[in-house]
Amino acid sequence: MTDSLTVRDNRTGQEYDVPITDGTIRAADIGQIKVADEPGLAVYDPGFLNTASCRSAITYIDGDQGILEYRGYPIEQLAENSTFLEVAYLLVHGSLPTKDEYDQWVHNITYHTFVHENVKSFMEGFRYDAHPMGMLMASVGALSTFYPESRNISDADNRAIQVIRMIAKMPTLGAWSFRHAQGKPYVYPDNDLSYTANFLSMLFKMTEVTYEPDERLVKALDTLFILHADHEQNASTNAVRAVGSTQVDPYSAVSAGIGALFGPLHGGANEAVLRMLRRIGNVSEIPAFIEGVKNGNERLMGFGHRVYKNYDPRARIIKKAADDVFDVTGVNPLLAVAQELEKIALNDEYFVKRKLYPNVDFYSGLIYEALQFPPEFFTVLFAIGRTPGWLAQWLELVQDKEQKIARPKQIYTGDRTLDFTPAEQRWA
Ligand code: CMC
Repeated sequence: MTDSLTVRDNRTGQEYDVPITDGTIRAADIGQIKVADEPGLAVYDPGFLNTASCRSAITYIDGDQGILEYRGYPIEQLAENSTFLEVAYLLVHGSLPTKDEYDQWVHNITYHTFVHENVKSFMEGFRYDAHPMGMLMASVGALSTFYPESRNISDADNRAIQVIRMIAKMPTLGAWSFRHAQGKPYVYPDNDLSYTANFLSMLFKMTEVTYEPDERLVKALDTLFILHADHEQNASTNAVRAVGSTQVDPYSAVSAGIGALFGPLHGGANEAVLRMLRRIGNVSEIPAFIEGVKNGNERLMGFGHRVYKNYDPRARIIKKAADDVFDVTGVNPLLAVAQELEKIALNDEYFVKRKLYPNVDFYSGLIYEALQFPPEFFTVLFAIGRTPGWLAQWLELVQDKEQKIARPKQIYTGDRTLDFTPAEQRWA
């Protein structure tokens, strides 16, 4: 067997041998196929349905089998036995830390949780009803002005410190966007607490000297962060890589990723799921809602995935975390609606045929609501979890000699060579 493709161009009768490596052919090889002086053949793939943009050793997904692994470790084992900061180390450094490495990593991240006071004034300038994702995107982008040396992306030590800063400061910025909406004073980090406990403290602390969160809630939120930590070349990671490919600083690249995550088809889906469940309201309304989805009036949010054509393994773990949270907070009444919706959808021909299963966002919103987060804050939680993944992918990108500035081709469909008539003649 030869690992190549023989392509015959029926326009010219010419044959080409195109090598196959790792189950892919190079688009540049296809570009050699041409008729006389015309441009070479290109590949048209809106939404990158079948185009690999990079080689990556970070996250493995088998969508048909419902498998997700970070650096080779199954998500189920990491969610059960690890912590978010350990998983962050794994994603960024490529292997699990020794005890010393872990302690140093946790120390570094804890040490960098504070932000410059001017960041605080900057955030205070937002309107009272500013969406927290808009505030997060802008304030992460603004960090590039506080760390101008971050533009020196070819220096490994410099890259390392920006990675630590960003993982450390994301909960601070996220929590402040939450307090802003509530008109409450921003709470400074408490570096005696763990990463996730400190985040809860910055969200909910009022007059107490030390905020003491329920450890079961800390564990559940930490697990949710782990589940969101990376997901190979999804829309926001692709945004980080596309913007990062210009060699801009990592704050600007990650802020682009936050913008992509904001959209309802991506991280914004968890907010959309909760609004959908509230709208359905109770189980008796589900059949009418499902009919609307099947008639194409709307989508069943939290269902379907570009890669998973089987149950999303993260959704399975989240269902378990939901039980742990509801033990503390009491059951979210919308859980019954979600469970019935899932049961009906999984048995309905429309969803079965299209291989639409619950994804990570289907149950996460119910947990977040039980933790007293308003829907518009849900995607901020996703962003905090995804930050180590974005940064691991950015580090891989900037060290990958094969990468170039991201610059897709287009098929031009507009007019050509029109004669311009000056305005005074057109408007006469
Ligand atoms: N409800 C109803 N129909 C759906 C849904 C849905 N949630 N998702 C896909 N379909 C249908 C779609 O209409 C199409 O049907 P047809 O073949 O008759 O035209 C078919 O299934 C294939 O859908 P697609 O839009 O071509 O699939 P895609 O891979 O481009 O989209 C998706 C993937 C996640 C954007 C989509 O499934 C969706 O919009 N889901 C709802 C939003 C959501 O939950 N997003 C979170 C994704 S997981 C977390 C994350 O990525 O952030």
